[in-house]
Amino acid sequence: MAGDKQKFRSSEWFGRTDRDGFVHRSWMKNQGLPGDLFDGRPVIGICNTFSELTPCNAHFRKLADHVKRGVYESGGLPLEFPVMSLGETNLRPTAMLFRNLASMDVEESIRANPIDGVILLVGCDKTTPALLMGAASCDLPALAVSGGPMLSGRFRGAAIGSGTDVWRFSEDVKAGRMSLSDFMEAESCMNRSAGHCMTMGTASTMANMVEALGMGLPGNAAIPAVDSRRYVLAHLAGRRIVEMVREDLRMSKILTPEAFENAIRVNGAIGGSTNAVIHLLALAGRIGVSLSLDDWDRLGRDVPTIVDLMPSGRFLMEDYYYAGGLPAVLRALGEAGLLHRDAPTVNGKTIWQNTADAPNYNTEVIRPFDKALTKSGGIAVLRGNLAPDGAVLKPSAASPDLMRHRGRAVVFETIEHYYERIDDPALDIDESSVMVLKNCGPKGYPGMAEVGNLGLPPKILEKGITDMVRISDARMSGTAYGTVVLHVTPEAAAGGPLALVQEGDMITLDVAERRLEIEVSDEDLEARRAAWSPPPPPMTGGYQKLYFDHVLQADRGCDLDFLVGGRGAAVPRESH
Ligand code: FES
Repeated sequence: MAGDKQKFRSSEWFGRTDRDGFVHRSWMKNQGLPGDLFDGRPVIGICNTFSELTPCNAHFRKLADHVKRGVYESGGLPLEFPVMSLGETNLRPTAMLFRNLASMDVEESIRANPIDGVILLVGCDKTTPALLMGAASCDLPALAVSGGPMLSGRFRGAAIGSGTDVWRFSEDVKAGRMSLSDFMEAESCMNRSAGHCMTMGTASTMANMVEALGMGLPGNAAIPAVDSRRYVLAHLAGRRIVEMVREDLRMSKILTPEAFENAIRVNGAIGGSTNAVIHLLALAGRIGVSLSLDDWDRLGRDVPTIVDLMPSGRFLMEDYYYAGGLPAVLRALGEAGLLHRDAPTVNGKTIWQNTADAPNYNTEVIRPFDKALTKSGGIAVLRGNLAPDGAVLKPSAASPDLMRHRGRAVVFETIEHYYERIDDPALDIDESSVMVLKNCGPKGYPGMAEVGNLGLPPKILEKGITDMVRISDARMSGTAYGTVVLHVTPEAAAGGPLALVQEGDMITLDVAERRLEIEVSDEDLEARRAAWSPPPPPMTGGYQKLYFDHVLQADRGCDLDFLVGGRGAAVPRESH
């Protein structure tokens, strides 16, 4: 604002009276911006993941317009810029392969430009961690605005959830319980408005993480994408980011160890996605907070899942919003002594000041602790000779009777090998078997695809059986369910013991004891290792080679090794 004595980062571009200042301002003015917008006011970047190839984020132009209104009202200059957008449903081989690439785009776009603070417009699964990670490495004031979930799906009078019911319907078709024409009809009934998946999948989980970490305004997690209040939230975010720049409220002041601990507990309470484990580990690495896989187990173990949403429960995000959304959950956690109440948030208040009076309008959707969906809602971290560096399982999505299980391994060397064999009536498998999938981890796939929730063989589905123990180095969609052990580390392609499992080996899973063991002696495993050779890199050049050479394992968040840590926002002066 004119007369403002505070000097901002953007003054290095727009505040000069020399040739460089001329160049910086003059070309910007070709957009019809009046000269007084370059008078030293905060410049707010609006980092937009809009793309028509990312359907969950396709409404983001309108969202950005509402952010701009708020920025102008507070005396800032909003400047929108695009970054790589990651659409979960279209990108091959998997959107996760590109999360780190998008984060580099975000980091470098922020640092290289005259930006004092940034609004991160996030929605579909990977866009949230990519933008948070990239912004964290610059550490300017930043505020995330999620795009909001779709309205509830509806098929023949019943609620259906994005993702979750796709898995169910496709198994029903295989088992002969659903016709192909009904299956095709359901396709138009599932995703019927703008927004991201409306189950408690990864996108909804990450929108909750944004709010739980203090990086979003209260209400960010659940307001439906098409509800006018989502646009009000965007407007308010625009107003607030200008104040944050004036207060120098940087990301590192929000993303404290306590913020991460709050987020992990929230993930347990909401029955959140296993993908949040990977994304928060990576984000913590960028901002310099020490966080490990074991923190997830330690902090989540005593947190019951109280949000009754698919895939763990019955309801959808629209119901969650009407019930009170995340503020109601935070209040319940705070009253149970499971929240760091003093954790700061982007609106300048503590998380407890934002939520102490939050109402719960529907105790079916957000249940009281004594009527929890599952008693232990966190992420179970398993270890043993099959996963020396850890593996994860989501207890709230698993079958209680399979949480302790010993079975014979049926091994799929790759996902293609699985597809070749799974429908074969001669496949030697029954419901007590343990399905083992290899080479789907960060290096192996590459990109650690969401294929860990392997569909069951038709001959088992036909018996009415819907769950078996499955083990892999892959991830699983947050919308999926089952007794599925994921993120086995080290992965098979990196030479982990998973690579050495053979058909017929006996495997023991004991979730209560956090154990995952293969009943093969160390000597035999060593003999198998001597005969094993690593798979070749997927590509000999380009980004995929860079990724393959530098990706960290799942227990380190699958970031690229050279991206870990912050690099700040300083940039050497350039001259024309
Ligand atoms: Fe985008 Fe689910 S596909 S959030």
